[in-house]
Amino acid sequence: MKFLPYGKQWIDDDDIQAVVETMRSAFLTQGPKVKEFEERICKYTGAKYCIAVANGTAALHIAIASLQIGKHNEGITSPNTFMASSNCMIYNGIKPIFADIDSKTYCVDPEKIKEKITENTRLIIPVHFAGQPCEIESIFKIAKEINIFVIEDAAHAIGSKYEDGSRVGNCKYSDLTIFSFHPVKTITAGEGGVITTGNKELYERLLLLRNHGITKSEMRILGYNYRLSDIHASLGISQLKKLDKFVERRRELVKKYNEAFINIDWLATPYEKPGVYSAFHLYVLMIDFDKAGKSRRQVMEELKLKNIGTQVHYIPVHTQPYYQENFGYRQGDFPIAEKYYQHALSIPLYPRMVNDDVDYVIKSMVELKDETDFNKHSGYSIIPIREIDMELIRQWRNEQIEILRQKTPITAHEQRRYFKEFIKPSFNEKKPDQILFSYLLNKGLIGYGGLTNIDWESKRAEISFILDPKRTRNKNLYRKEFSSFFKLIKQVAFNHLSFHKLYVETFDIRSLQVSFLEESGFVLEGRLKDHVLINKTYHDSLIHGLIK
Ligand SMILES: Cc1ncc(COP(=O)(O)O)c(C=O)c1O
Repeated sequence: MKFLPYGKQWIDDDDIQAVVETMRSAFLTQGPKVKEFEERICKYTGAKYCIAVANGTAALHIAIASLQIGKHNEGITSPNTFMASSNCMIYNGIKPIFADIDSKTYCVDPEKIKEKITENTRLIIPVHFAGQPCEIESIFKIAKEINIFVIEDAAHAIGSKYEDGSRVGNCKYSDLTIFSFHPVKTITAGEGGVITTGNKELYERLLLLRNHGITKSEMRILGYNYRLSDIHASLGISQLKKLDKFVERRRELVKKYNEAFINIDWLATPYEKPGVYSAFHLYVLMIDFDKAGKSRRQVMEELKLKNIGTQVHYIPVHTQPYYQENFGYRQGDFPIAEKYYQHALSIPLYPRMVNDDVDYVIKSMVELKDETDFNKHSGYSIIPIREIDMELIRQWRNEQIEILRQKTPITAHEQRRYFKEFIKPSFNEKKPDQILFSYLLNKGLIGYGGLTNIDWESKRAEISFILDPKRTRNKNLYRKEFSSFFKLIKQVAFNHLSFHKLYVETFDIRSLQVSFLEESGFVLEGRLKDHVLINKTYHDSLIHGLIK
C-alpha cells in the first residue's frame, strides 16, 4: 500500500517538460524565466513588484534587511511558526519577541501584539498559519499608528484571500510579503521563494540584496547570492498555472475531513474565519489524546504503520533550546501556543490525494480510539498474538517462563498491528477459531489467554487464560489480575466482536478460579462428573457462562 505523507508536491509531465526546455536553453541561472515568474506572481497576487529568491528563508532574510532597521531593535512574530520567521530577525541583529496566538485561528493575536510593543519595536511578522489569513488589517493598523513595518510571512498562504476577497501577497496591508515554494507548499519550484511589495524603494534595494549588493560593477551595500535559477523558476511558472485548481482540491478534501470528524468528541477540526479563504496548506487536527487514550507519539506511530504520515506544526519556537538559552524564554510564556501544540497533529492533505485516500485516513483516525478502549485499563492491556508465537506459549505452559521472557519477540506495537491488519480483515474471509492475546501489566508480560472454540454462527466463544504461575500464589494479586483480564476480554468479545455468549471451563479443584469467575458475573451452567484426570485423580469439569 502506498504511503500518504502529510504533504506532497504534484508534478506532472508538463512541469517536467517546462524544466527540460529551460535546461536546453541558454539560461540556467537567473534569466528570462525568473523575470516571467516574478511577473506572473505580481499578476496573480495583485502586487506591484516581485523579487524571486532561492527559498522562503532567504526571502525573509533580505526582506528584513531591506528595511534598514538597525541592530538591537525588536521584531514581533508568532510562536506558532516555522523558526525561519524569527531566525531571520536574528540574522539581522533584531531581537525576536513573540506574541501569543488566537485560540481559534492559531495565528498571532493582534491584542497580544499590542502588549509586546516597546519603544524598540520596529517590525511585525505575522504568519498566515496553515493558509489562514491572520488578522492582517488590525495588525497593519497597529503598525502604522506607531510607524513600524509589517512583513507577512505567507509561506503557507499562496492562493489564500483576505476578508476583503483580495489575494494574500498584494501588500495592501503590509510593506512586504514573502512566499515559499518548498515541495510541501501549495505549489513548488523545487526550492524557491519570492518577496512581493508595493514599495519601489524597497524593491530596488531587494534587487541589490539578492545579488551581492552589486549594481553593474559597483558594490554599495552588503548583499548575498540569493538568486533563483531559471530551472526552478520554470517549474514555478508551470505550477502557478495550476495553483487555483490545487487550492480548490485542497478545500474539497478539507470539507470531506471536516464532515467526517465533526461529531467525534475527541477531535476538533480546523477553524476557518468567516469571510477569509484559506488555501489550506495544512490540515491540523486538534486531538484530545486523553480521551483517545493514546499519546501523540503512539498515534503517530500507529498511523505510520498504516502508511499514514503525520507531522507536528509547530513546536512553539520560544521553547526551542536556542531561544531559551539566548533570549531567556521559558515554558509557560505563551500558554495558548503551548496548549495548541499539545493537541496539534497535521494529517495528510495534498491535492493529489484521491477520495479513497481520504476515506482511508478518516477510517484510520476513527479506529484509533476503538483500539484504545480495550487497551486502557489502569495499566492492564491485552494485545493479539501471532500464530508464529504460539510455540512460545506452549513452552510457557510447561512453566519455562524465564525462557519465554527472554525470547519473546512480540512487542505491543507489532501485536496491535497484527490485530488490525491480519485478524480483523481475516474475519471476512476465513474466520479464525481462536484469537489469543498477551496479557500485560504496564507493558510487562504477565499472562496469555483469549477466545477459543469460537462459534461464529451462534456468536459464542470459550475463554481460556493462564497467568504467570508466580503471580497466582498471591490471592489478592491473582484476583485483581484475573478480574481485569476478564473485563478486557469481555469488552473485546461483546463490544468489538458482537458476541452473545462466553463460557469458561474449569475444574472443581480450582476453587479460587471458580470464586473469581462468579465475582466476574459468570454463572455455573453445567458439571461433567469425573471428567479430567489431574494428579492421578478424576475431577469434575465445571462450565460457567455469561450472556451479553
Ligand atoms: C511559516 C514559514 N516561514 C518561512 C519558511 C521558510 O521557507 P523555505 O523552506 O522556503 O526557506 C517556511 C518553510 O517551511 C515556513 O513554513
